[in-house]
Amino acid sequence: MAQLATTPGNAMGAPTGLSLKNQVYLPLKRWLLLNFKLDTTYFKQQPDRIWLDRHLYSRLSQLKQGRILFVGCAFYTWESLKLFHKGVDLVTVDIDECNEIWGGDKHLVASILDIDKFVEPHSFDIVLLNGIFGHGVNTPEMQEQTFKALHNILKPDGLLQIGWNHDLITDPTELQLSKDLFYKTAYEGLPQRTTFPDSTHVFDFMRAK
Ligand SMILES: C[S@@+](CC[C@H](N)C(=O)[O-])C[C@H]1O[C@@H](n2cnc3c(N)ncnc32)[C@H](O)[C@@H]1O
Repeated sequence: MAQLATTPGNAMGAPTGLSLKNQVYLPLKRWLLLNFKLDTTYFKQQPDRIWLDRHLYSRLSQLKQGRILFVGCAFYTWESLKLFHKGVDLVTVDIDECNEIWGGDKHLVASILDIDKFVEPHSFDIVLLNGIFGHGVNTPEMQEQTFKALHNILKPDGLLQIGWNHDLITDPTELQLSKDLFYKTAYEGLPQRTTFPDSTHVFDFMRAK
């Protein structure tokens, strides 16, 4: 199994492994928040979230090895991280250090635009990029920089899954750089693109050229 491929140094909050904070403080705080303060019911009922859990994560949970980057961590994504097999080298990243609590054991506080400065090149099999374009990474320039950074960290033919909202941004898969670096593809019986009648969410699959 690959080692965590962070470059030495400087992603704030580079993975902390078996620290007291990771083993005791964060789990306890998480448990308190999820049981007494935060409610995931709304998110669990959204068609896009149901699709992720039922169709995408259920497929990904069959993988017993490989390296996956999960981008953007929130209280309503926490349970999804548990679906991944222990053999998978799961790395999470969020720009907001407050969201470390919702990241996995190997969590980076960093911007996805610069992720290639913090992990080894061409070391990931899959990147899951849901709700980032249009929720922080908003301009075509930022999205192009993200495509570049993700291409640098994905293995050739590595999978990029993007979830975005058509009412917030224009189609990022039509950016020239996206077309130069990635090709559109279906994944394990799921279509290249999935949309929903009552939601503005769009899910796309692409692979690194
Ligand atoms: C709408 S939430 C999406 C969370 C989750 N990925 C999902 O499936 O819904 C957006 C998250 O993206 C994070 N984010 C925004 N800009 C980012 C960036 N440049 N790099 C990494 N994370 C970013 C925010 O801190 C926030 O946690």
